[in-house]
Amino acid sequence: MERLQKYLARCGVASRRKAEVLISEGHVSVNGTIITEMGFKVSDGDSVLVDGKSIEVKEHVYYVLNKPRGVISTSSDEKNRKSVISILPDEINSYRVFPVGRLDCDTKGVLLLTNDGDFMNMLVGPKSNIEKEYLARVDGIFPKELIGKVIKGFKVDDYVTRPAKLYIEEYDKKNNSSLVRLIINEGKNHQVKKMLDTLGYPVKRLTRIRFGSVTIDGLKEGEVRELTVHEIKTLYGLASSNNFK
Ligand code: URA
Repeated sequence: MERLQKYLARCGVASRRKAEVLISEGHVSVNGTIITEMGFKVSDGDSVLVDGKSIEVKEHVYYVLNKPRGVISTSSDEKNRKSVISILPDEINSYRVFPVGRLDCDTKGVLLLTNDGDFMNMLVGPKSNIEKEYLARVDGIFPKELIGKVIKGFKVDDYVTRPAKLYIEEYDKKNNSSLVRLIINEGKNHQVKKMLDTLGYPVKRLTRIRFGSVTIDGLKEGEVRELTVHEIKTLYGLASSNNFK
């Protein structure tokens, strides 16, 4: 048994607050009777209609957000900073989505969101080997001699990084900085910043431009879109075929 407004929110009809308005205004019927009472409970076999139309139960949803800088990807934080959840449209929040892994507050770019816990664990669990691609603006002129170290793996804190790829995209000699593209297939805390810092080239700005096969191409900062069925299947495929031994 579940409260009617919660059921409507879970089915993706509206946020819980909007579902309460729909109920109080008499738009919702259960087994042929209009229900305006808020505590009313429904169970799976009940016929729930909104404005006479049956609702489709959408259990799992998958989105990609082009996360802006300055918002956190955890739901709460002691410094009271804005969270990604607070910038999502109500309709998406009604599915109770959460971010797949984390991006730092000052990192922008691809952030997957879902309400499918198994999917999330598969993508960010310790065995996951899915590629994440970053563009990092670093302090200093990054020497190509260090690329071999990234390819082989090197010690950062108390672990050795998995083999990764690094391409030097451009040098800005005037401002003494470089733009590097780093592709890693693990996701330890602050990993990209720590890797580049350990090499002696601290990150000034970081953007994640790809997670597996999903990019933010065509999405403005703060915009979100549903993943296509093809993207979801590809991520499932990458997660199950690529487990790191
Ligand atoms: N690595 C980092 O250091 N920060 C991020 O936000 C993502 C990867």
